[in-house]
Amino acid sequence: MPERLATEPRIRVDVLLDDADRRSGLLDETFWSLREQPKQISPLWLYDEHGSRLFDRITRLPEYYLTRSERGILRAHAAEIAAAAGADTLVELGSGTSEKTRLLLDALRKEGTLALFAPLDVSREVLLSSAEAVAAHYPGIGVHAVVGNFERHLNSVPAGSPRLLAFLGSTIGNLVPERRERFLGEVAETLEPDDRFLLGIDLVKSPDRIEAAYNDSEGLTETFIRNALTALNRELGSRFDQAAFAFEARWDAAHEWVDIGLRSLRQQTIALPLLEVDVSFAEGEFLRIEVSSKFRRAGIEAELTSAGLRLERWWTDAAGDFALVLARRVR
Ligand code: AVJ
Repeated sequence: MPERLATEPRIRVDVLLDDADRRSGLLDETFWSLREQPKQISPLWLYDEHGSRLFDRITRLPEYYLTRSERGILRAHAAEIAAAAGADTLVELGSGTSEKTRLLLDALRKEGTLALFAPLDVSREVLLSSAEAVAAHYPGIGVHAVVGNFERHLNSVPAGSPRLLAFLGSTIGNLVPERRERFLGEVAETLEPDDRFLLGIDLVKSPDRIEAAYNDSEGLTETFIRNALTALNRELGSRFDQAAFAFEARWDAAHEWVDIGLRSLRQQTIALPLLEVDVSFAEGEFLRIEVSSKFRRAGIEAELTSAGLRLERWWTDAAGDFALVLARRVR
């Protein structure tokens, strides 16, 4: 169902998740996740239009090394990736502004194989503006944008022969191991034998540097995280008081993830009118908004293997901060 032809005739847009679906899915998930221990809300709450713009600014913070490291790896190895993939279609999951993706598009175009770019993202506004920017910059290729959720709509991304499925930025770090297992299994299922999966992952390193990336001196990460609470108030008709919660982003060495959220400063009960429930926080109780998992080569290789994928290539930046993994389906 091509819902809206963008200003460019070469852009097709499929809306698998309209505002009403997105909202009702989030509400339903939130009802349950606020009953978990610790209480949590989906990181999807972070990415309304304002939040997506804030995240884009985070990627340029001095402390936030992830984006720069990944871009460096792409700059150094995009040609090899393009040669190995030989893809006519680049699918990008959780594409956001698709800014680093230009390096892949350039390399695939040089390789002479590129025909279609297919970005998928939940944030419709950001997706459409980046789809239009890519279409304008690459006159020879088609753009097929999908408004959707990478955990639900993988089977609806365009086919290609072959396809390169890119999942950059360590977005996979938002998924806890059980959800990663399910997601990677779906990736394996959707890949054809000649397709490739390109995965960007942030690596385990000194806790000081990791924590600094999420406790920036400008306070932008805090603004980004608090925006989820603002979105919750808007969508649930609730009245969470920002002043009653403290921002926290702490390295959890046992899980090797950063636990990011808001800690209640007092005992409080908040009504959630649209969910028809109240939620109570003890003083000091944590509301998790996202985890940002960090990876080791052996760990991700084992996860890929058990999902039915085989790690083919592994690239890191000189400092060993971040890695790009190229994988394919087994058989
Ligand atoms: C988009 C999930 C990769 O975990 O680093 C950045 C999100 N949150 N700063 C990350 C994020 C706070 C980001 N990912």
